[in-house]
Amino acid sequence: MPASPRNSPLPHVKTVEEFRSRRWFGPADLRSFGHRSRAMQMGYAPEEWTGKPVIAIINTWSDLQPCHAHFKSRVEDVKRGILMAGGFPVELPAISVSESFVKPTTMMYRNMLAMETEELLRSHPVDGAVLMGGCDKSTPGLLLGATSMNIPAIFLPAGPMLRGNWQGKHLGSGSDSWKYWDELRAGKITDQDWLAVEGGIARSYGTCMTMGTASTMTAIAEAVGMVLPGGSSMLAADAGHIRLASESGRRIVDMVWEDLTPQKIQTRPAFENAIAVAMAMGCSTNAIIHLIAMARRAGQDIGLEDFERYSRKVPVIGNVRPSGNAYLMEDFFYAGGIKGLMSRITQHLDLSCMTCTGRTLGENIEDARVFNDDVIRTVDNPIYGEGSLAVLKGNLAPDGCVIKPAAMDQKFLKHSGPAVVFDDYPSMKKAVDDENFPFTPDTVMVLRNAGPQGGPGMPEWGMLPMPKKLLKMGLRDMLRLSDARMSGTSYGACVLHVAPESWIGGPLALLKTGDIVELDVDARSINMQVSEEELAKRRAEWKAPPERFGRGYGWMFTKHIQQANDGADFDFLKTEFGRPVEEPVIY
Ligand code: FES
Repeated sequence: MPASPRNSPLPHVKTVEEFRSRRWFGPADLRSFGHRSRAMQMGYAPEEWTGKPVIAIINTWSDLQPCHAHFKSRVEDVKRGILMAGGFPVELPAISVSESFVKPTTMMYRNMLAMETEELLRSHPVDGAVLMGGCDKSTPGLLLGATSMNIPAIFLPAGPMLRGNWQGKHLGSGSDSWKYWDELRAGKITDQDWLAVEGGIARSYGTCMTMGTASTMTAIAEAVGMVLPGGSSMLAADAGHIRLASESGRRIVDMVWEDLTPQKIQTRPAFENAIAVAMAMGCSTNAIIHLIAMARRAGQDIGLEDFERYSRKVPVIGNVRPSGNAYLMEDFFYAGGIKGLMSRITQHLDLSCMTCTGRTLGENIEDARVFNDDVIRTVDNPIYGEGSLAVLKGNLAPDGCVIKPAAMDQKFLKHSGPAVVFDDYPSMKKAVDDENFPFTPDTVMVLRNAGPQGGPGMPEWGMLPMPKKLLKMGLRDMLRLSDARMSGTSYGACVLHVAPESWIGGPLALLKTGDIVELDVDARSINMQVSEEELAKRRAEWKAPPERFGRGYGWMFTKHIQQANDGADFDFLKTEFGRPVEEPVIY
């Protein structure tokens, strides 16, 4: 049995001869001569890699990725851990998918990062991987790729940034941008106030510190078993994050010896654990799309119905904005973090699931405690009685759509009103700024052509801006409907991810201004009051929009992207349900 300098919780089953990297460095032939001599060209001695697992560190640092700014130095802490445990670290940079800068939307590039991760791992001499991500799409992107590659991998979350601060108030990423933008448009704050908010809302490196997509997805990564215990709520600027980086480096070396691959961790019960945690956290709506894609890469048949099932039984107990009303991720971390939250919903978790620690989820949270019962509530005293998200269906969305009942004005849970339909973002934006446009408080504002193909990439336009006219009337919410996504930091009565999307002729394409739209969240329904005969007539008249991409990534994306209810993965990348993920042999 091979030895490592550390005590693994699981037996070591790999031998040095079985390491992938041996295919590059082991044989006494001309090709391996080239690999070894070029490693020595970089100053490495054969003793540094011989007999050791080679660990890739996929680093999503870039000069245009503020959420990962600390990865430039944190990668050295990961390397330190790998070296301590007897591994050989190699850093491989990958696209940083910065939510703050990438246009039209990072969602177009989640799958690119997934492909990049998979192919980086496949084409290089590596035996395991540390995945460094955290900003929204970087987490699913890295995990999708590593899952398809199926060599041992551990995820290191970037960690949330510190709370924002303005005039003594705690500011939350995204949520307070929308809020104070509306206040500025309503004339309630000054231009100087707005500038001060701009300077105070993002005070340190790290990911958005509301319960947006970043914190949702890193919590999901931990719940599914791919992050060290408590790692997803560790603050980016806390010295504990440096130790987490080093520990992740130490742990992956053992995972290689143990052959603890993503497929052994990411089982159906593990994904169901992730859904339960997402619901209890008051998760971002984006969680649905990413989790479905992740599960399907792992060969697990997870769909909208699983979210609906957990939504009905798991209450929101994480009192973090935007679903919660007061706190941010910094408060959540001090209150006990994700381990504390999981300890409060154990009845909804399968605690026997294996995790990256080599121990079960139940063992990982044995020592969990909650230090603030207002931030992490009990299930008897939740923020919201049912789960964070609701899946709706009806003649507007036969394949489903979602709404976030916990983060909207409750009077819109049952609503019917006349649609005002926009075909593109610019015309909608012009109308909301026009105080003479005939919006009323009952209007259902609709944006179409914003789905996976139409957006393209489902831009986060789904929290359609409130019309100036209604803001000045003192209103802050209205029913909105689209095939777009919305930021996890957004809020409001926004129906999202309508599938099939309008661009490919989904029923949303047939809706006309003035048609009555009916929403009933309790009944999980969304319908337009238009007769079947009339819909058939409109369908016959509908014309597919022209193709927009003649070449390049955009062409490939629009040809192969799947609908939101299927996770918006490329059709050629998903794994068939129940079929094991296998690494193709490379000689
Ligand atoms: Fe990176 Fe929000 S912009 S996590």
